[in-house]
Amino acid sequence: MAEQIIILAKDKESKYKELVPQMKLLLSGESDLTANLANFTAAYKEVFNHLWVGFYIVKNNELVLGPFQGPIACTRIQLGRGVCGTAWKLKKTMLVRDVNTFEGHITCSALSKSEIVIPVLKNNEVVAVLDIDSEYLNAFDETDEKYLSELIKSINF
Ligand code: SME
Repeated sequence: MAEQIIILAKDKESKYKELVPQMKLLLSGESDLTANLANFTAAYKEVFNHLWVGFYIVKNNELVLGPFQGPIACTRIQLGRGVCGTAWKLKKTMLVRDVNTFEGHITCSALSKSEIVIPVLKNNEVVAVLDIDSEYLNAFDETDEKYLSELIKSINF
């Protein structure tokens, strides 16, 4: 297992390009899902240092809080509720540039101003969502969407 993530790039896209192969290497040596989700969030937080990064996992028809880095968070989210529940319901990435404009946004931290949620699909069913929050408006864009979709492929759900 790689013991550290080394990113030399300064711009976002180049950071992602350096992170993708290192994340694959980091997760490839371990089969335990919790361990891999935990290291995924730690590696991502280390590189991008957003306010919150974590997984919600589908369990008994709810999203339940999984491994994360950042402030304490809501533990359960229903289908169709908030940004996470909407990403789950629509099976679609949600890019929210200003959380105040998203009706039904669930505020776990008052510091969060923008958010991206990527659904993780297995056999065309959502098994989890990856949620990333920023304390800055407009922190996420299509570059994040593209590379986060790539990064979650390193996880063997
Ligand atoms: N804001 C999310 C809830 C999860 S926290 O941001 C960690 C939502 O609206 O679903």
